[in-house]
Amino acid sequence: MCGIVGYVGSRNAVPVLIEGLKRLEYRGYDSAGVAALEDGRLNIRKCVGRLRNLESQLHDTPLAGSPGIGHTRWATHGEPSDINSHPHTDSSGRIAVVHNGIIENYQELRRQLEARGHTFRSETDTEVLPHLIADELAAGAPDFEDALRRALGRARGAYALGILFADKPDTLYAARHGSPLIVGVGVGENFIASDVPAILNETSRVIYLNDGEIAALKPGGVTVSTLEGRSVQPAIKKVEIQAEAIERAGFETFMMKEIHEQPRVLRGLLDKHLDANGRVQLPGFPLAADYFENLSRIMIISCGTAYHAGMYGKLLLENLTDIPVETDLASEFRYRNPRLESGALVVAVSQSGETADTLASIRLARKWGCKVLSICNVQGSSLTRESDAVFYTEAGPEIGVASTKAYTAQLMAFCLLTLFIGRARGTIDDNLERALADALRRIPDAVHYVLGRKTEIQKIAGKHHDGPSSLYLGRKFNYPTALEGALKNKEISYQHAEGYAAGEMKHGPIALINEYLPVICICTRTDDEVYDKMISNMKEVEARHGRIIAIATDGDQSIADLAEDVIMVPDTRDEFSPLVNIVALQLLAYYAAQARGTDIDKPRNLAKSVTVE
Ligand code: G6P
Repeated sequence: MCGIVGYVGSRNAVPVLIEGLKRLEYRGYDSAGVAALEDGRLNIRKCVGRLRNLESQLHDTPLAGSPGIGHTRWATHGEPSDINSHPHTDSSGRIAVVHNGIIENYQELRRQLEARGHTFRSETDTEVLPHLIADELAAGAPDFEDALRRALGRARGAYALGILFADKPDTLYAARHGSPLIVGVGVGENFIASDVPAILNETSRVIYLNDGEIAALKPGGVTVSTLEGRSVQPAIKKVEIQAEAIERAGFETFMMKEIHEQPRVLRGLLDKHLDANGRVQLPGFPLAADYFENLSRIMIISCGTAYHAGMYGKLLLENLTDIPVETDLASEFRYRNPRLESGALVVAVSQSGETADTLASIRLARKWGCKVLSICNVQGSSLTRESDAVFYTEAGPEIGVASTKAYTAQLMAFCLLTLFIGRARGTIDDNLERALADALRRIPDAVHYVLGRKTEIQKIAGKHHDGPSSLYLGRKFNYPTALEGALKNKEISYQHAEGYAAGEMKHGPIALINEYLPVICICTRTDDEVYDKMISNMKEVEARHGRIIAIATDGDQSIADLAEDVIMVPDTRDEFSPLVNIVALQLLAYYAAQARGTDIDKPRNLAKSVTVE
């Protein structure tokens, strides 16, 4: 969603801000803007559209100065437009604010402020903030920081803020409540950002602000205090990610690079957690084996792609351990009055660790006394800081909006956790453990093999991309794969795609089938009856002249005979086949998107990290 960058130091802030905003483009946005202070004046450039529009505006009417703040906006209140873009100012133009989040009581505040003579220009919730601060200064707040504190005391909702005062030219202010914000610590200069990649080329030393904290950044130092005015000693942490990790490394898109990183990411998790005997090791993990021995229930909560990982986690855990597992969308869970006992373990799955609904759900679960285990990709994120235990997916920064490597890493996290829990509860014995571990170790190579078939997959995508719709069918472990494959397709190619449990096809989607509809059937070999059932479903599609694209196990001639096109994948243990099969579907969606000419890394309307409800 929206991105924030801020700079204070001796350099001209504007190029630093633009570079930082470029590194945040992946979050999704529809307009952009910057403000910089020069000779006691706050100058602003902002416009709707991509950053290149802002750059050309800056080319025509240059801007320089320090400190400065920059923003990429993902519209919530008010359409994407020049006026609604950030930064926003008070009536006098001497206070500028960039904001991520939502001020929930903005209408009421706006009415009060307008009644007192403040003139508003935009339709945004954000604009109340600079006016509120100005209002507090006019009402006698002794200094800028105090005015900011008082103003934030009146605002309800979530925010990460960067604030400039024309009359306080040596300081950049920042505040956080409910939306992520970090301070980057440099030498003789300091930064703020909504996300580490924005400033990774400048510094790797960061302060993760906590909710309810305000930071005052000067070139020579940073002070942090609470909203109540208590000073805080900030901890400076070293970020482990290398700047190169957020480069495209020769690939045409981040998404393609990330698809190709999957064998390495999966191997990394296996090397870290599987010992030579095939036993899962979780060194330093706060939830020990005996905790899982007595566990009565697991509730998995997540959104988007991570929800599909959660569905897979449930299937795997229930198949290989004896714990009852439920899964839910975080946005449903938090409002449905779920009945959870304090002994249940809540597992939150999130690439970013900042998804608003997922965070709200774990806060609810904690209120009921449940422990929270998160499966997360971003160190220092809000989710990891609020969890009792964290399993890091260690996929490295994921920049493409459509999740790929983070998803397979989440699946692998569930595989490893399941082995650990199954052993703890005695449902996985030595023999099964060895067999599962051996099968897992073969996954990275199997993924690599699928990547090697990309030219073939591209050809298949080329045949089927131009229809209005497509249907994805799978069963059991590959039901979530069908949903995730369909999600990838709609996210990046904008083709309507529906993922369905194949057994449900007769209850509706079969009506869609005709000689034009591509039906993607995931039918890799299994040891149980699901395989035969899936073949029956494919026959039903064939009988209605649907165009079958099958994902099948190498050498499976019966499926090759049935389908119009087949993507063969290596023979993989049934439980783990989703880690391989999804890679074929990622590539299928990718090449469909490429053929349809979409912006693959930054699909329209989507945001990488959904920090508002
Ligand atoms: C957004 C992203 C998805 C992601 C979902 C959940 O919609 O575009 O790729 O799956 O949020 O995000 P999380 O960071 O919690 O995994």
